[in-house]
Amino acid sequence: MAKNKTKLVFACRECGHNSPKWLGRCPACGAWNSFAEEIDAQAIRPSRRAALNEPGKPARLSEISASAHQRLATGLNELDRVLGGGLVAGSAILFAGAPGIGKSTLTLQAAHRVAQVAGPVLYVTGEESAEQIKLRAARLKCDAAELFVVAETNLDAIRNHLQALKPRLAVIDSVQTLYDQELPSAPGSVAQVRECAAGIIMQAKSSGTPVFLVGHVTKDGNIAGPRTLEHMVDTVLNFEGEKFQSYRLLRASKNRFGSTGELGVFEMRGDGLAEVENASRIFLDEYDHSRSGCAVLPACEGTRVLLVEVQALAAPSPMENPRRRVTGLDANRAHMLLAVMERRAGFKLSRLEVYLNIVGGVTVEEPAGDLAACFAVASSATEVRLPPATVFVGEVGLSGEVRAVTNLQQRIDEAARLGFKQAVGPRLRGLHLRVPADFRVLEIGDLREGLEKFYLVGR
Ligand code: TYD
Ligand code: MG
Repeated sequence: MAKNKTKLVFACRECGHNSPKWLGRCPACGAWNSFAEEIDAQAIRPSRRAALNEPGKPARLSEISASAHQRLATGLNELDRVLGGGLVAGSAILFAGAPGIGKSTLTLQAAHRVAQVAGPVLYVTGEESAEQIKLRAARLKCDAAELFVVAETNLDAIRNHLQALKPRLAVIDSVQTLYDQELPSAPGSVAQVRECAAGIIMQAKSSGTPVFLVGHVTKDGNIAGPRTLEHMVDTVLNFEGEKFQSYRLLRASKNRFGSTGELGVFEMRGDGLAEVENASRIFLDEYDHSRSGCAVLPACEGTRVLLVEVQALAAPSPMENPRRRVTGLDANRAHMLLAVMERRAGFKLSRLEVYLNIVGGVTVEEPAGDLAACFAVASSATEVRLPPATVFVGEVGLSGEVRAVTNLQQRIDEAARLGFKQAVGPRLRGLHLRVPADFRVLEIGDLREGLEKFYLVGR
């Protein structure tokens, strides 16, 4: 029998880039020391690869049915929102996160909910035994009759289970433990992870079963990083936490069926992951307006408004070049804001060390945070407190003008809902804003004007 001719290649663990020889740095993604030798899987299973791009006939748009995109809600609202409104039939979702963050917990909870309302769900565990899953399920009170669990890592066996059960949802926990006996590489290698994922995704597409592929994100690079999978799946969900103690944040970094801006917030409790009420204020727990240097910003994450506290410390520096440290905000932008304060608002900052931080490890990338950052710095430098129950929102331009921001209505509504009474923001200029009762918007056209209003700069 003619043996399959196996070809050896070097593949990048980060992005899957192939090279005929070992390289210290990946030319595609720039990762260092990420190349490992493996069998060229492309040469082995062309059939599987081809099937991922099924041949089809061109059809009129009007003739294409969109029923395949009907969504199945998991019942976990935070998860559904990040998915873009629920699970799309046949979609493959990579659920990535560091070990211990709660991936197994959340996917089991989702599996239970779907099994309760929609029909059979298959939970494939490759890391834990079925008994361990049972113990976790008991703790989470996940006892749906239609929830099936199997401890299996063999790709073909899993495909057979999927074919036999025809579940409404499948969870593969985790994709790194899968192996395909036809591939000589070790489980966890780039080739195995990629090919097994391709096999599962193909099955999902042909059967219409949505699948969660749980994937570990490791720093040491021993296991094939699930980043090679990002191109193959429809949706990549990142589950993050730890810095927020018991809070867990779910974000989509890729979503073929929805926006990537959405944020889901969960809290890890004794009985599993719970959706957080009033998630918009979880980072404001310690906020105290009687301290100078703190400004509240209604920041937007997708369609959700999160109120965060921007803190600044500006203190005289003994050094020639006073230190500037920024966390949670874009550092270049912060430096620009300090220059604008200096030049346009008459604020002498050049002799001061400036530290800027957003409480709770949150990162705000939008320019709408500019005004809050400027006010926090001004308040700290002058030791003048900012008014109570006030939020600050607006982009600051290079000439010191305060510019309009997106979603102002939602930001104001959320601030008002949480008991804030006033927003300092840009000129509304004919923008029809529904300002809630007991709330006022203080429009400022320019940074200096705003700082003067609050006695933060000499008149
Ligand atoms: P797990 O879902 O196993 O994480 P992953 O699959 O991402 O590795 O959850 C890990 C942690 O969550 C574990 O340290 C214990 C904690 N946990 C709770 O606090 N409450 C619970 O109800 C459960 C099931 C886990
Ligand atoms: Mg797990």
